[in-house]
Amino acid sequence: MNISNQSANQLIASAQLFLTKNTETLEIESLDKLKSILNYLDWQYYVKDNPILADQEYDYLFRLLKDFEIKHPTLVTGDSPTQRIAKGLSASFETVAHLVPMLSLENSYNAEDLKEWDKKCKEILGVDSLEYTVEPKYDGAGISLIFENNNLKRAATRGDGVQGDDITINGKQIKSIPLSASFLNKNVQTIELRGEVIIKKEVFAAINQRREAEGLSIFANPRNAASGSLRMLNPKEVANRGLHAVLYHVSYHNNKDETIADNEVLASHYQALEWLDNLGFSTPHKDMILTDSIDKVIDFCLDYEQKRDNLPFEIDGMVVKVNAIALQDKLGQTSHHPRWAIAYKFKARQATSILEKVEFQVGRTGNIGPVAKITPVSIGGATIGSISLFNEDVIREKDLMIGDTVLVERAGDVIPYIVKSIPELRNGTEQPIEFPINCPVCNDALVKPEGEAAWRCVNVNCNAQLVERLIHFSSKNAMDIRSLGEANVKRFFELGIINNIKDIYQLDFTKIEGLENFGLKSIENLKNAIEHSKEQALHRLIFGLGIRFVGETTAKTLAKAVNDLREFEHWNIEKLCTLEDVGPKVAQSIVQFFKNKDNRLLLDGLARLGVNLQATKNKNSEEGVFLGKTFLFTGTLHQLKRKAAEEIVEQLGGKILSGISSNLDYLIVGEAAGSKLEKAKKMPSIRILEEQEFINILTETGISI
Ligand code: IVH
Repeated sequence: MNISNQSANQLIASAQLFLTKNTETLEIESLDKLKSILNYLDWQYYVKDNPILADQEYDYLFRLLKDFEIKHPTLVTGDSPTQRIAKGLSASFETVAHLVPMLSLENSYNAEDLKEWDKKCKEILGVDSLEYTVEPKYDGAGISLIFENNNLKRAATRGDGVQGDDITINGKQIKSIPLSASFLNKNVQTIELRGEVIIKKEVFAAINQRREAEGLSIFANPRNAASGSLRMLNPKEVANRGLHAVLYHVSYHNNKDETIADNEVLASHYQALEWLDNLGFSTPHKDMILTDSIDKVIDFCLDYEQKRDNLPFEIDGMVVKVNAIALQDKLGQTSHHPRWAIAYKFKARQATSILEKVEFQVGRTGNIGPVAKITPVSIGGATIGSISLFNEDVIREKDLMIGDTVLVERAGDVIPYIVKSIPELRNGTEQPIEFPINCPVCNDALVKPEGEAAWRCVNVNCNAQLVERLIHFSSKNAMDIRSLGEANVKRFFELGIINNIKDIYQLDFTKIEGLENFGLKSIENLKNAIEHSKEQALHRLIFGLGIRFVGETTAKTLAKAVNDLREFEHWNIEKLCTLEDVGPKVAQSIVQFFKNKDNRLLLDGLARLGVNLQATKNKNSEEGVFLGKTFLFTGTLHQLKRKAAEEIVEQLGGKILSGISSNLDYLIVGEAAGSKLEKAKKMPSIRILEEQEFINILTETGISI
């Protein structure tokens, strides 16, 4: 998007003006301007990671345009930002041919491979020196975009490389893809771009958290989530997946012999990306180098291999490309890959192992979770012996048998998972995995509710569930009863000292005194931790109660909606659905929880025992000193507990981010802060504060800690 500072300022100034308008006062002549503003804001937000207006302001402008278009339907144009909104899609996707086949890349694995490729390219071209670009190899789902007369005409998946699925409507949900771009020049009517659709790590973690809270199976990695999302039938859901598209190749334009822009944009790969960048696309531009030294190419690849865990997205290697397009054309391609590019693949994060047995664990809500026990293998520095298989469908889909050789992957923050079995290595001794029909703990018959993937033990008094509920209640993000960790909960439960949540608050400490490893000090700590938990913020209690589908975020929403938790006893589904992020399924579960007599008695009992059921009403979250500001804590804090510090920020209206980005305002650093600090230092918009400086600000604001 080619916008000078001056015109950007003008756009922002007019945005302010539009904020004062309504559908009556908006003039038809200013419609194009409003569209440009919204497109510019989308680009800043989704491509540059740089929100310019507050969400509510953006929403206001969007609604203004939408309402105006409803009144004047003839004024709706294809590039209007409202046209991203889905109209629906048929049950299957049409197969379409790519204008140019989407080839694979040749792989290299070390410096020698790259040097050999460098030598070969120079030999074929008969040159001594060659310029290369090096950029990340994004680990997502390939996409091809066709623009005709400057407008996005078609988006397609890679498919078999020759044909893919037409996913245009889903492609339009990806906000980092401009719906139109000025590819200039009247000679270019058709242009085909290639890229990768990815889900940033932060977004991926949030998606899985949401799915887990909703009882859905979680995605193994961002790549699977991205490619699954592109093929979803409901485009509205696609829009909720936070997909991001990076474009890295111009594969076709119908005017190959002439330059297509004023400058010689297509003379080199580097310039082509710069050009796409200026047209408003997200490209690898910021993460790439241009060099004529193969040693520098190698260094850059190794450097990114080190950095890969600190990047906001997953990459599985780097791609080295010959820069000059004329030389690319001379080198040509095989039927499999271009000769002018090569992938440098990072060290595998996969290993094979043997599936020795499958155990079945009963979760807090009675879901039966199969866990694969494999011969321990070391991947990326961690030893993996147990891997969750989520549910029966996963076992069937992956065709797993006891004794199978299985491919195991562990990537960065992603939990390890079994990629697939290798049936070719079977010798006939493998055994099918029998899914139990009775609960492995209480022996009750298991049921599989319609529409759910997991088998479930519905005996609410099943010991396994009782223990898991207690563990969850005292866990760090719930009531945070430190001394009551998993091992102690299990021990106290087996001894009959704690049977349910209420028992925690009427604990007979004399029964614990004699226990092994439980001295006076431990008892003192436990007493304090339990006492302290009585004062926890309401959302922690709500989360700790383990209401189905109520994760941490929903718990926070609920806590803000009432003065006393028991008010929910009078709420119905409709009223709950008016809350942000609460849909009918979640609402139904909440209503069910508060209808249950035992749960009501539990809440009354907890209140009598001194547990806080009241919301701390602070107006701060709407008008606090940190309103609209974002924070991230890194390193070890000495005076504050991380969770407590985060809660203070939230109470004062601030927001906690999970990674460094240009959206971050403050990074608070403790001892031994590592890569996050390094990264923040390179971003001048982020203010870096020591723990003490942060505390000083709190003190000045009148907050005592
Ligand atoms: S260039 C004709 N550049 O990797 C050249 N590909 O394993 C086309 N990929 O099919 C590819 N990041 O889907 C290129 N920066 C990048 C890439 C990239 C990821 C994917 C692409 C390709 C696959 C090959």
